[in-house]
Amino acid sequence: MQIRAEKPEDIEAVRQVNIAGFGRSSEADLVDRLRSVRPTLSFIAVSSGQIVGHLFFSPVAINGQSNNSLMLGLAPLAVLPEFQRQGIGTALVEYGLKECDRFGCKAVVVLGDPNYYSRFGFISAKNKGLKCEYTVPDEAFMVLELESGALDGCSGTVKYRSEFNELE
Ligand SMILES: CC(C)(COP(=O)(O)OP(=O)(O)OC[C@H]1O[C@@H](n2cnc3c(N)ncnc32)[C@H](O)[C@@H]1OP(=O)(O)O)[C@@H](O)C(=O)NCCC(=O)NCCS
Repeated sequence: MQIRAEKPEDIEAVRQVNIAGFGRSSEADLVDRLRSVRPTLSFIAVSSGQIVGHLFFSPVAINGQSNNSLMLGLAPLAVLPEFQRQGIGTALVEYGLKECDRFGCKAVVVLGDPNYYSRFGFISAKNKGLKCEYTVPDEAFMVLELESGALDGCSGTVKYRSEFNELE
């Protein structure tokens, strides 16, 4: 299995991975809406020439102040159902976080299952004084500092791009 940055010719297959992974088209549509946003990072997992997983990052803002490269949101992450539970999601997240770091991103937030994301070092964002704009359980909104202390003095509400508001 190979993990690499998405290329333009991968876009349709990436859409299908999101539709199959989530069992609906909302996340695939979200990714397509976010494609015109900068900066975004998009990675794929390829197995025997087939795109089997996808991971996307887009900018988030704290208290309305977007510091574009400072903080990114991890979403969505999807693996084709028949390829799940084989370590592909883990490999994608590990690769993606390294690339975020290389890109200059200082911290990444994610809204998801703490049992899954804690293995990458994500902790409850509340511990860093960060709140999610959506009503979610505290433990589901997590943050990972890629640079230690990057979030010192950065408390407030984290907002995803408005493209997320259309996600049902
Ligand atoms: C979540 C998802 C991306 C994980 O991908 P994956 O390739 O199956 O993950 P991995 O094989 O790396 O799984 C690693 C671990 O996570 C667990 N895991 C897998 N899917 C999980 C899920 N949906 N919730 C909680 N834990 C999950 C596995 O049991 C495994 O645990 P283990 O290492 O202790 O055995 C995949 O299940 C998926 O596409 N789900 C549908 C879309 C979705 O819900 N995305 C999450 C958006 S936040």
